[in-house]
Amino acid sequence: MARFGTKKAVKTWVRRLGPPDIAVLAWIARNNGRYGAPGDRPPQQPLSELEAKLFLSDERTVCLVAFVENDPVGFLYANELYRRHGDLSHLCLYEIAVAEEYRGSGVGRQLFDALGAHAHQRGISHGFAITHVSNRDAMELFSKVGGHRGADDDVVFAFRF
Ligand SMILES: CC(C)(COP(=O)(O)OP(=O)(O)OC[C@H]1O[C@@H](n2cnc3c(N)ncnc32)[C@H](O)[C@@H]1OP(=O)(O)O)[C@@H](O)C(=O)NCCC(=O)NCCS
Repeated sequence: MARFGTKKAVKTWVRRLGPPDIAVLAWIARNNGRYGAPGDRPPQQPLSELEAKLFLSDERTVCLVAFVENDPVGFLYANELYRRHGDLSHLCLYEIAVAEEYRGSGVGRQLFDALGAHAHQRGISHGFAITHVSNRDAMELFSKVGGHRGADDDVVFAFRF
């Protein structure tokens, strides 16, 4: 396996998905395993057509995809959250993932930079992402793009409603 960061640069372009991109969103869900550690990410059931339209047309939800030609090699999505004070809007980077064979080629950074441009366009100056200390790739990416780790005892609770 190539050492991290020694892979050749690839020509990647990033764009925001919109309502006509239901098939791209569904493809990413079905091929979920491509974007995680082996065995770690089972294929996912795509949203229904109606749900996908809602997801893709919501102005406060942004889904950015990195393509090599027409191959979606990485993606992220983020949600604009409203807060009760200070700046109204904040960005929650909910998920970012790059196909294993394209990692270490700058795709993650490119996606993150595109998110930054989107945030500027929306007048948003702050955001956050949640990850695990054991996820070295994510820890590296988030600190390289200027993320600041505020506390070392943060815990995430998951709920079922
Ligand atoms: C996290 C992830 C999106 C990073 O994507 P990537 O395309 O490999 O990242 P990049 O190549 O753009 O690297 C961005 C920076 O992080 C650094 N980096 C990322 N992973 C690294 C690693 N394992 N070791 C050392 N540095 C690393 C790079 O050196 C680069 O720094 P630079 O721009 O200063 O050179 C990717 O590893 C991934 O999809 N992992 C599985 C899904 C996941 O865990 N997502 C995060 C969930 S919170």
